[in-house]
Amino acid sequence: MTFTMSLFLLLLLVCSTQASHFYGTVMTYYPKNNNANGSITVDLHYKLNFHLCSQFATWACFSGDCGTDSDVVLSEVDEEIGTLEWCQNEGIMTRQVSTNAPFQLWLAGGNWIDNIVNGIINWRAITLVELRNRSDTNQANRSPQTTILPVLRVPSNCQRDFNLLAFDPDGDKVECRYGNEALSECNPCTPPSVLNLSPSCTLSFSPTDSINKGLWAVQLVMEDFPTQNITLTQTNGTQTTITTINAISKIPVQFVLSVDRAVPSCTEGLYLPKFLPPTPDNRAQLYAPVNQTLEIRINAKANNSTISDLLFSGPYNMNRIILGAGQYILSWTPSENQIGENHPVCFVVQALFNTVEYQSKLRCVIVNVGYDPYPIPIFIGLKMKVSALSSLSEDYIYDKIIEKIRAEMLSQGVPSDFPLSLIRAKLV
Ligand SMILES: *[C@@H]1O[C@H](CO)[C@@H](O)[C@H](O)[C@H]1NC(C)=O
Ligand SMILES: *[C@@H]1O[C@H](CO)[C@@H](O)[C@H](O)[C@H]1NC(C)=O
Ligand SMILES: *[C@@H]1O[C@H](CO)[C@@H](O)[C@H](O)[C@H]1NC(C)=O
Ligand SMILES: *[C@@H]1O[C@H](CO)[C@@H](O)[C@H](O)[C@H]1NC(C)=O
Ligand SMILES: *[C@@H]1O[C@H](CO)[C@@H](O)[C@H](O)[C@H]1NC(C)=O
Ligand SMILES: *[C@@H]1O[C@H](CO)[C@@H](O)[C@H](O)[C@H]1NC(C)=O
Ligand SMILES: *[C@@H]1O[C@H](CO)[C@@H](O)[C@H](O)[C@H]1NC(C)=O
Repeated sequence: MTFTMSLFLLLLLVCSTQASHFYGTVMTYYPKNNNANGSITVDLHYKLNFHLCSQFATWACFSGDCGTDSDVVLSEVDEEIGTLEWCQNEGIMTRQVSTNAPFQLWLAGGNWIDNIVNGIINWRAITLVELRNRSDTNQANRSPQTTILPVLRVPSNCQRDFNLLAFDPDGDKVECRYGNEALSECNPCTPPSVLNLSPSCTLSFSPTDSINKGLWAVQLVMEDFPTQNITLTQTNGTQTTITTINAISKIPVQFVLSVDRAVPSCTEGLYLPKFLPPTPDNRAQLYAPVNQTLEIRINAKANNSTISDLLFSGPYNMNRIILGAGQYILSWTPSENQIGENHPVCFVVQALFNTVEYQSKLRCVIVNVGYDPYPIPIFIGLKMKVSALSSLSEDYIYDKIIEKIRAEMLSQGVPSDFPLSLIRAKLV
């Protein structure tokens, strides 16, 4: 009995360390405490995407003094059951380093899912953690903040831009590039020939031959650059000046692009789901007070297909609530120890037509966690007369009118992060 039990455990162990069916990763970090003895605590947040929720990989020290880490907890974020089945887990690792000297963590192993068109088999990813004191913020550097879904889909005959989330809490310029083998950022790093990457982290896909259909591994590196020369100060007093062309930290952003069968029409809202108000804009900044539940409302429609799912990537304890066809809420309650953090959230809506899955564009927002400066909601009744030459759609009212109200409030001295939403508009 004991013998078979231990054999079973050993088998499980072997399976998990040789996990295959990798769908990519992303990692970001937040410096936490500066301890009196000069040591620093840093929280690293990462996503691991595999075929099964039970599969995982472990980050190891690649260079520098990576310090010691607490127990790593992996928690499920979201999963997809369909033609491609994946599960995204979030890992939170707290490391304590004795000085603020830079170090690198890496993930190395195998294998990605089978039949990747650009031939990637082994997985490899690197994060450069830079915690030196910046002369412009008088604080340790914070990494760019982003997240990604394990699989992004596009029909082979449609043009599409994937505008990745590229937010930096220090106000740095964020740029993306493909990984470099010489820096061990991937193995190999062959970029997908069907995508065009701009430094501002937009991946453009153009209609392509059906020969390019299939799964592509996208292995990006996201870096933050200061907007002026800055000095980085190490715990022992050593200073280094860096200019606007020197990256401060770097994080990996890796996922699978699925180039699918052609769709009868690329117009959003027919087969491909289209987001409707009040879905927040891509790259919008949202605000969530500690201990209060933030609700992100997401509406989408597709006239000629059936909306089947909302898939998301965000904090592991974010919940999806299904209100009805194409109507969802993502809800999340930040805790006290997340004050000052900026949490990335990305989502897509999927629809089905004749067993083919169609994905909306990718939308991402950043959720800033803080104390609530506006604890009581203010309701304002506004009577406006809007004249137009043609009839106004609900989208127009939401997008344009609310923009004008915000601009007016800004000019009256109301802060730009004031949460503003249109509860109801009545057309007469
Ligand atoms: C430094 O301080 C931290 C927090 O107080 C403590 O956990 C750590 O063990 C200390 N390190 C050393 C080398 O004393
Ligand atoms: C960073 O440097 C500034 C100026 O020297 C200092 O006031 C501040 O305490 C330092 N911050 C940390 C986290 O070491
Ligand atoms: C930034 O540093 C570079 C290299 O040291 C120097 O050439 C440049 O003049 C500096 N720029 C500013 C605005 O100080
Ligand atoms: C500070 O530490 C770095 C390595 O972490 C070392 O290269 C440098 O010489 C040290 N500087 C001083 C003043 O001790
Ligand atoms: C979808 O159908 C609605 C109602 O019939 C129509 O108003 C809308 O224009 C259609 N959407 C597209 C993209 O054709
Ligand atoms: C948040 O909730 C925790 C646990 O209920 C409580 O200890 C803490 O004081 C609360 N913080 C704020 C800012 O409301
Ligand atoms: C979408 O559906 C409508 C009504 O069901 C149909 O008339 C139209 O031809 C379809 N559009 C496309 C592009 O297939």
